[in-house]
Amino acid sequence: MEKKEDIRILAIESSCDETAAAVVKNGREVLSNVIYSQIDLHTLYGGVVPEIASRKHIEKINQVIEQALKEAGVTLRDLDAVAVTYGPGLVGALLVGVSAAKAICFATGLPLVGVHHIEGHISANYIENPQLEPPFVCLVASGGHSHLTVVRDYGEYEVIGRTRDDAAGEAFDKVARAIGLGYPGGPKIDRLSREGNPDAIAFPRPHLGENEYDFSFSGLKSAVLNYLNACQMKGIEVNPADVAASFQKAVIDVLVEHSVHAVKAFGYDTFAIAGGVAANSALRSAFEKRCGEEGIRFYHPSPLLCTDNAAMIGAAGYYEYQKGVRHGYDLNAVPNLPLGGVPRK
Ligand code: KG4
Ligand code: ZN
Repeated sequence: MEKKEDIRILAIESSCDETAAAVVKNGREVLSNVIYSQIDLHTLYGGVVPEIASRKHIEKINQVIEQALKEAGVTLRDLDAVAVTYGPGLVGALLVGVSAAKAICFATGLPLVGVHHIEGHISANYIENPQLEPPFVCLVASGGHSHLTVVRDYGEYEVIGRTRDDAAGEAFDKVARAIGLGYPGGPKIDRLSREGNPDAIAFPRPHLGENEYDFSFSGLKSAVLNYLNACQMKGIEVNPADVAASFQKAVIDVLVEHSVHAVKAFGYDTFAIAGGVAANSALRSAFEKRCGEEGIRFYHPSPLLCTDNAAMIGAAGYYEYQKGVRHGYDLNAVPNLPLGGVPRK
């Protein structure tokens, strides 16, 4: 017989261009993880069009939720709570998930747990790494965020560094567009880089003086664009694979340096990565190697759990639920919801 204290959470994620629902048991066991990706739709426009994203979420959300319940072999009656991303993200997109979650809770009486999207990304690490427990340092690198965070406890975060301008994923997307790869750039640069020489072009590794844990990627992006323009003006043929590999190496060097420095400076021995960019194969190998050398335990979710999904929201939602977090029907979408407390000076 099933243990009575098992907690099953239906999780919903719609903050950007993935309509996703999942059922997660006890925060770490994924019973289903359904993702409807709108990427093909937005590829036509070279990036996510917020209005189109919201409309597509409305079309798909009920279908995706039904499929998640079916694949998990549960009905709404078997659930203990509904968790939903309520920020940060595109306001119209977030509203679709939040409204769906509230409607289910209103109809069933299930408790509603609002989840921070970045907390979801971080919690993706709990799913496949049963031994991972806070405290640890986590690098979150996605299309909208580049954060270095100390995870003090479940649901307790201290952001120690962030990007001053572009997020790492955004830089991947912009550089990919410049070399004609299209959207989304990350996976395409990842693939093309395997055929290129990462030391072919010396792009800058931006380090910031005042806060050694902050990032800046817009200078690197401009350096790539300048390089491409200069080649064009001089009639020099560009090798896209070398540009991709050299750019990717520059991003990885900075992410690895800052992260390892933070882990050591804050006195931790455990480090994790999260967010879409964490799916990057070269980034994972670089961290694997460096953390191995430094004696740091290194964790990462599998690629499917790095990019947006609802299983990660179910994992984060479980720990919020266990802490007693419950939201009312007045829960709203918060496009710029901050994670943790005030950033460190
Ligand atoms: O976490 P995510 O799915 O959405 C946000 O919350 O932003 O991250 C999407 C970002 C995009 O910028 C995409 O280009 C990047 O993650 N990405 C990658 C890879 N896969 C996705 N970047 C580098 N290498 C990859 N393999
Ligand atoms: Zn995300």
